Amino acid sequence: QELQLNLEQIEKNGFDHFMLKEIYEQPSAITDTYRGRLNVEEGIIRMAGVDDNLERFLNAKRIVIVACGTSWHAGLVAEYIFEDLARIPVEVEYASEFRYRNPIINTDDIVIAISQSGETADTMAAIKLAKEKGAFVFGVCNVVGSSISRETNAGAYTHAGPEIGVASTKAFTTQITVLTLMALKLAKAKGSISNSDFHMHLRELETIPHKIEAALESNEHIQKVAFKYKDARNCLYLGRGFNFPVALEGALKLKEISYIHAEGYPAAEMKHGPIALIDEEMPVVVIATRKGHYEKVVSNIQEIKSRQGKIIGIVTEGDTSVRDLADYVIEVPDTIEALTPLLTTIPLQLLSYHIAVMLGKNVDQPRNLAKSVTVE
Ligand code: AGP
Repeated sequence: QELQLNLEQIEKNGFDHFMLKEIYEQPSAITDTYRGRLNVEEGIIRMAGVDDNLERFLNAKRIVIVACGTSWHAGLVAEYIFEDLARIPVEVEYASEFRYRNPIINTDDIVIAISQSGETADTMAAIKLAKEKGAFVFGVCNVVGSSISRETNAGAYTHAGPEIGVASTKAFTTQITVLTLMALKLAKAKGSISNSDFHMHLRELETIPHKIEAALESNEHIQKVAFKYKDARNCLYLGRGFNFPVALEGALKLKEISYIHAEGYPAAEMKHGPIALIDEEMPVVVIATRKGHYEKVVSNIQEIKSRQGKIIGIVTEGDTSVRDLADYVIEVPDTIEALTPLLTTIPLQLLSYHIAVMLGKNVDQPRNLAKSVTVE
């Protein structure tokens, strides 16, 4: 028993929980995801699973992504990235819904299955169904040799290293990294991105681990924000564009480890219903980086403020407009819009982590949840 505890402490490497350790591992995990794949100087992305099936990818009429939970959120981010860069239509499906429908799958569709564990029963069933219908299935998994990685026709590992905390953190950002590399590679091959834009994206991708380190420096400040809102009963998360899925992911993280009810929404949907929930008791986390629909998000923030909602803004370094309106802001470094999810996710992970710790919850093994969901 004592030996077991000591072993666990060694594995946590000085961190109080696996989740915190894994949050802090993201700069090195993403570097591992790039390793051997991204060559910025030569402007090359090498991914054997894509290279070996390049024609199939280039001729695909559609990509259908199947996944569950956090991996499904990574799929939603990928939808924005693939459509924006590679101009391939993408649909993102909950594996559990896909498998029980009678989905229309054509032989020139590519199905991408995303799974950290590679053992999720619903995702596995969706893969089998897609294969039966003649689709080519590409896996994005973390666990090497897992069932899903063996069942798929080709794939790319995330190389995030073991993820022990039930709440997925580094698996999410490394999944987005792999999918971004794929989208860029296909965009280049299709000619849907200019040479200079392609190189700019590669250079920027390479800076992401360093920028995540900078985002992690807000940890103490985030702890103070967590203390302020730890007793909230509900919480809203809003984001637009590439950051809408990040809002969903932020809400899922808070729900699963602190048991506080949270909802993620596209910021513009607020006026179609959720705005009725806003009062002085409601914290609203708004992802408002100075990109994309920034002005629109700022006006959403004004609407929340005029209803006395409490605003926590996730903003680009140096932002002043949101700072003037928000109760708290948490800064992340600037980057190009498509890569913002890799940075805006970090403060949301830390915020839910600290709230759960302050509430005395079992952060690494939340109630009712398992790391691999192998039941239907
Ligand atoms: C994430 O924090 C969850 N624990 C859960 O939603 C998870 O992402 C989902 O069960 C999918 O798991 P997978 O990536 O291993 O397939």
